[in-house]
Amino acid sequence: MPFHPDPGRRNAVILPPPQRRCAPAPLSTKELSKETWPDFQRLFGKRGEWGVCWCAYYQRARPIPPDETRGWSLERRAKRNREDKVALVEQGRAHGILVYVGDDPVGWCQYGPREELPRIDAARNYKALGLGGGRLWRITCLSVDRAHRGEGVARMALAAALKSIESQGGGTVEAYPVTHRGALAVWFGTQSMFARHGFKVVGPYGRSNVVMRKTVRRRPGSKVAGAKP
Ligand SMILES: CC(C)(COP(=O)(O)OP(=O)(O)OC[C@H]1O[C@@H](n2cnc3c(N)ncnc32)[C@H](O)[C@@H]1OP(=O)(O)O)[C@@H](O)C(=O)NCCC(=O)NCCS
Repeated sequence: MPFHPDPGRRNAVILPPPQRRCAPAPLSTKELSKETWPDFQRLFGKRGEWGVCWCAYYQRARPIPPDETRGWSLERRAKRNREDKVALVEQGRAHGILVYVGDDPVGWCQYGPREELPRIDAARNYKALGLGGGRLWRITCLSVDRAHRGEGVARMALAAALKSIESQGGGTVEAYPVTHRGALAVWFGTQSMFARHGFKVVGPYGRSNVVMRKTVRRRPGSKVAGAKP
């Protein structure tokens, strides 16, 4: 261990620069399902800014009527969102990718067919674009545990979501990423992340976001989600 060169602090120990004690565990992904619900619950139960939402927001066509939610505490809101989310998972109406470091769920990407994520359709900014539909998928949320940000977790979640869409028949995929650092709605991901996958801007979405689209081809041999055999 080297000694501090400052004569006034002779024999002071200089600590080496912070280093990881061991190589980071590799990242892996799983699809949200009844089986992985406990992991989703662990991730959303961690302290974090999304702890109240439980990624239920974009799954509702409209907010819960204010008459019903008046006076609710954050805990009460979180409980309702969690209950609604688990019901959707049990009905197979909630899609998403969980990212793990070892066994620890650390990241999340919500995706799904348009019908599963109808809230975007109600947004004034979105309606103004008058975009056509067809078979449309949406990617509406990326969330990463604070302790694992900047490690490529969101990038991995997005790549896995696109693979899942491909294996479920593909189609047009739509995203709403932020255009610059410091923008608030960063849960939509960043424009650069989507551009790297070949997404193109189709219009503005408010001041700090854009709507981007890409066509994902169906993986040969894959079943079209929702199609009758
Ligand atoms: C935005 C977020 C998902 C990024 O996750 P991450 O795993 O740290 O991101 P990655 O390391 O995979 O990097 C992905 C890209 O995001 C960029 N990025 C990361 N944090 C960012 C931030 N705060 N603002 C803008 N861009 C950011 C990276 O530079 C990178 O861009 P690049 O691909 O062009 O290099 C993460 O910071 C997060 O969860 N933020 C909170 C989101 C939130 O509020 N969710 C709750 C919704 S209820």
